Amino acid sequence: MSDPNDLAAFLASAWQHLQRGVADRRAPARYPTFATVSPDGVPEARTVALRRASRSEGCVEIHTDLVTPKVTALRASPRAALHVWVPRADMQIRLTTTVTILTGTHVDDAWAQVPAASRVSYGTVPDPGLPIDHVYAYDKPVDRTRFAVLRCAIDHIDLVELGARHRRAAFVRTDGWAGTWLAP
Ligand SMILES: Cc1cc2nc3c(=O)[nH]c(=O)nc-3n(C[C@H](O)[C@H](O)[C@H](O)COP(=O)(O)O)c2cc1C
Repeated sequence: MSDPNDLAAFLASAWQHLQRGVADRRAPARYPTFATVSPDGVPEARTVALRRASRSEGCVEIHTDLVTPKVTALRASPRAALHVWVPRADMQIRLTTTVTILTGTHVDDAWAQVPAASRVSYGTVPDPGLPIDHVYAYDKPVDRTRFAVLRCAIDHIDLVELGARHRRAAFVRTDGWAGTWLAP
């Protein structure tokens, strides 16, 4: 049996879940909850799809429409949290991140990977979140200029694993992700 006191292995298992989320749409980490703070200081959370997870860069990426309220929130405060619960592993993954909003030529490669059927997610008229007169009183034209990649540079990772003996650890970029066990 593996050593439960192995911090590096604990962190590695969390990255495996994140990377599985990118590769497998049925994996729990495919759809994290993404939380921001509105310009008024109100917490906002929503489901997103995990599009990239790079352990070497310490970042994850999400795709979104540039005119959604989450982008307005990030322009005012670029900090965001992501939350994933992996039931089979009894593991909670929480990431605290600083977000860069990428657009234009910086997202050419990402846009090229977006399937044609999914491109309508970027360009809804009127803007997402505005009131409409009828349930279907909106259009979904493709608008390449509205496509944004949210590059979330991870500052802090908090892992909790439930078990006969719970495990919890924190990892920060500033110490090279060495990690510290925490009381669960
Ligand atoms: C399963 C699922 C996946 C979603 N994936 C994304 C996504 O990858 N990017 C995104 O911007 N919104 C995604 N959404 C929609 C968001 O949850 C949200 O409704 C929308 O982005 C507007 O959020 P905002 O008003 O807080 O900006 C998804 C919703 C669901 C239910």
